[in-house]
Amino acid sequence: MQKIILAQPDDWHLHLRDGIGTRTIVEHTAAQFKRAIIMPNLAPPVTTVEQAEAYRSRILDLLPADTSFEPLMTLYLTDKTTEEEVYKAAESKNIHAIKMYPAGATTNSDFGITDINNVINALTAMEKMELPLLIHGEVTDANVDVFDREAVFIDTVLAPLLDKLPSLRVVLEHITTKHGIDFVKQSGKNVAGTLTAHHLLLNRNAIFQGGIQPHHYCLPILKRETHRQALLDAATSGDSSFFLGTDSAPHEIGKKETACGCAGIYTAHAAIELYAEAFESVNALDKLEAFASHYGPDFYRLPRNETKIVLEKTEWLVPPAYPFQTESVVPFRANELISWKLRSE
Ligand code: DOR
Ligand code: ZN
Repeated sequence: MQKIILAQPDDWHLHLRDGIGTRTIVEHTAAQFKRAIIMPNLAPPVTTVEQAEAYRSRILDLLPADTSFEPLMTLYLTDKTTEEEVYKAAESKNIHAIKMYPAGATTNSDFGITDINNVINALTAMEKMELPLLIHGEVTDANVDVFDREAVFIDTVLAPLLDKLPSLRVVLEHITTKHGIDFVKQSGKNVAGTLTAHHLLLNRNAIFQGGIQPHHYCLPILKRETHRQALLDAATSGDSSFFLGTDSAPHEIGKKETACGCAGIYTAHAAIELYAEAFESVNALDKLEAFASHYGPDFYRLPRNETKIVLEKTEWLVPPAYPFQTESVVPFRANELISWKLRSE
């Protein structure tokens, strides 16, 4: 049997949600990753260091006894975030970044920023403190085509922002277009990007395959095949500006399989296996470890993990659902096979 051994990976973009009903979700991540950057888009959002500390404790309470998993907390940037809160975050050992959602861009983004100029003081403080800004990079203008929102954001918001604050440390999250890849490549080392497994594996046809597929609906939305190829090229190129961030985003089945379903794809049950499939598809398994386990901690100025994981080439059937909140979540590849399996020690 083919097997690969990797330094234990980290997930640099993860939605865990909150409360006792997320236990399975937390366990899935802790079984794979040593650390994860935890998204703050709860309802209400995590906007202060105090709230992030409390959320971190609730996550720690749900962890299995035998894990050394570490949640790396983030704050949610609003029009009202103060410079004082930024300084407090920068000084906290548990807060690693601040997340910026344009208001209305995605799930629980109602408190996001309405105009980049409203947060320029907070961003200037972040630049000074070298605290990374994590960006959901899409404009929300209803007149902009949903497939173009990332490119328009880069040209009209992100590029001008970096002209103003050239040393700001930025992660362009879940890049979905060649435009996003090219932007990160031509930026300085202070700008990086995360790539999800689902954007590496699927193009936009997957949303409509045999009928509408709510479990393939996420934001930014899946793009056409040429963009998927650009993401795969970047992930497997050995360029340290690109690293793993699943954007695993569970929603209750009833909130997906309904009129006006929520955006989000749940991949935490098989995250590293799905990346292995994507890398194998272009014969680049030798590039997986650096993408999954080295470049992320290097960017975040944290030590690389010393623990290892073993992946085996063996097919397994993904269950139809996992328990989540008072219902269940339908995982990516439900009732289908995945060709790699993390060995459970
Ligand atoms: O598909 C998504 N789901 N994209 C996001 O940006 C947010 C996420 C969520 O929280 O459900
Ligand atoms: Zn996300």
